[in-house]
Amino acid sequence: MGLFSKKKVLDTNKLPRHLAFIMDGNGRWATAKGMPRTYGHREGANAMIRVVEACLDFGIKEVSFFTFSTENWKRPKNEIDYIFELASEFSKKLTEKEYSNDIKIMTIGDLSALPEETQKIIADAKQQTINGQKMIVNLAINYGGRDEIVMAVNNIIKDGINNVTKEIISQYLYTKDLSDPDLVVRSSGEQRVSNFMLYQMAYSEFYFIKKHWPDFNKDTVLDCILEYQKRNRRFGEVK
Ligand code: FPP
Repeated sequence: MGLFSKKKVLDTNKLPRHLAFIMDGNGRWATAKGMPRTYGHREGANAMIRVVEACLDFGIKEVSFFTFSTENWKRPKNEIDYIFELASEFSKKLTEKEYSNDIKIMTIGDLSALPEETQKIIADAKQQTINGQKMIVNLAINYGGRDEIVMAVNNIIKDGINNVTKEIISQYLYTKDLSDPDLVVRSSGEQRVSNFMLYQMAYSEFYFIKKHWPDFNKDTVLDCILEYQKRNRRFGEVK
């Protein structure tokens, strides 16, 4: 089915509010083309732009991307530097798009470990898009789900709270202003969570796609949403 006919079967009343992507396969995609891994990340960043635009078009309210995990520091330095350069370029690019007033750029993770220039560019992009109403573009950078929970627990202790509830924990996570992801998509055929949004994923649907991340486009996003619409979410109930 082509994009047009698929779009006709899309149920706009049953959209995932929050769509999250674990982007995988940039390296393999580039290697298969005889190119350096960094080329895969560059094309991965271009795929992110396509996905942001598709999400906006389909009416998604929040889209998250896992761009750099707390474990990714184990990669070669040139690859790490390149990913941070792309993060700056990507955030800047989004603020220059014609739809930049519609989006709000947010981040989760410990950005203080990033190069200062990158931190500044991302902070500017967040500031410039602070009033965006249509969709949140959330970038997980130097993010780890377990680190986030540890941070939350330490801050709860620091604030002297001793009657901890699920709601209080949620309020101490990086994601306090986001809803839990309804659908988590991972590319490249791997079927793992890799320390992404551990607390927030309690009732998420998962979709694993064989395609490598740089090949993602509007049609892929539509496939993800249509797959979500086939799922029967019960949240532990009998329906
Ligand atoms: C996974 O592919 C990808 C990453 C760890 C990095 C994701 C980064 C980008 C898409 C670059 C742009 C970043 C921003 C913030 C715009 P992999 O390298 O693990 O692929 P492999 O498993 O095939 O080696």
